Amino acid sequence: MNVKPDFSKGKNYAETAPAFLSVWNMEAYYGESYIVQNVSFNVHEGEILALLGRNGAGKTSTLRSIARIGSPLVTHGEIWLDHQPLHNMASHQAAQAGLALVPEDRRIIAGLTVEENIQLAQIAPPVGWSLERLYELFPRLGERRKQEGVTLSGGEQQMLAIARALSRDIKVLLLDEPYEGLAPVIVDEIEKTLRIIKEQGITTILVEQNAVRALELADRAVILDTGSVVFDGTAAEVLGNDDLRAEYLAI
Ligand SMILES: Nc1ncnc2c1ncn2[C@@H]1O[C@H](COP(=O)(O)OP(=O)(O)O)[C@@H](O)[C@H]1O
Ligand SMILES: [Mg+2]
Repeated sequence: MNVKPDFSKGKNYAETAPAFLSVWNMEAYYGESYIVQNVSFNVHEGEILALLGRNGAGKTSTLRSIARIGSPLVTHGEIWLDHQPLHNMASHQAAQAGLALVPEDRRIIAGLTVEENIQLAQIAPPVGWSLERLYELFPRLGERRKQEGVTLSGGEQQMLAIARALSRDIKVLLLDEPYEGLAPVIVDEIEKTLRIIKEQGITTILVEQNAVRALELADRAVILDTGSVVFDGTAAEVLGNDDLRAEYLAI
């Protein structure tokens, strides 16, 4: 049996609820470059965790490490999801264990319609949300289901990328800058869907440059600076701490 490590003596783990996803002593390298430097944090079941920090702080690398997307990233450390160790898994195994990464570039497949993009994701079990349920969450996608995915607007492509993640039976959604390049009204729309996804019990790690928007949605926040955790606490604490925001988030 796998025994989950004891995180109770880690830094700033003030919460008493047991962690659902634990990242422990994570290190990641691109070749000789030491990028993620001994990062540890916990995510509780059903919460939204904002993972913040300046450009180049290591947010994307941390998400890729969690999702086990290797090449060219090499990682050491432990990742536990719901008492299951992920750190020796390949990315497809981590996906089967319930992780879904929506990358910054969204990866909509050219030549396929909206619906085909979703159906392709549903080929491998375990299947998650049905088309009907996804179109209820994202009515715009339902209206455009026969349209080629890459011809959607940026916001709609982001919705499609999230819909595709939900079409697998996932426990944790990893979002890399979902609001990037989107108008505030579209961000409002996506934020609304992220609240609904949370109500369904899915746990989310939200990486965003738009830190204020992310913090308004998130329960807790972890801030990275040059590959290390410099803050781990509630989103409200970050919003209320001008010095912290100025130093690490430039807002
Ligand atoms: N494929 C790569 N090869 C080498 N270095 C990389 C690669 N991707 C990112 N890096 C470097 O890793 C560091 C962290 O990048 P990243 O995780 O993308 O940060 P963030 O997402 O916070 O902007 C940066 O210094 C970046 O230049
Ligand atoms: Mg990034």
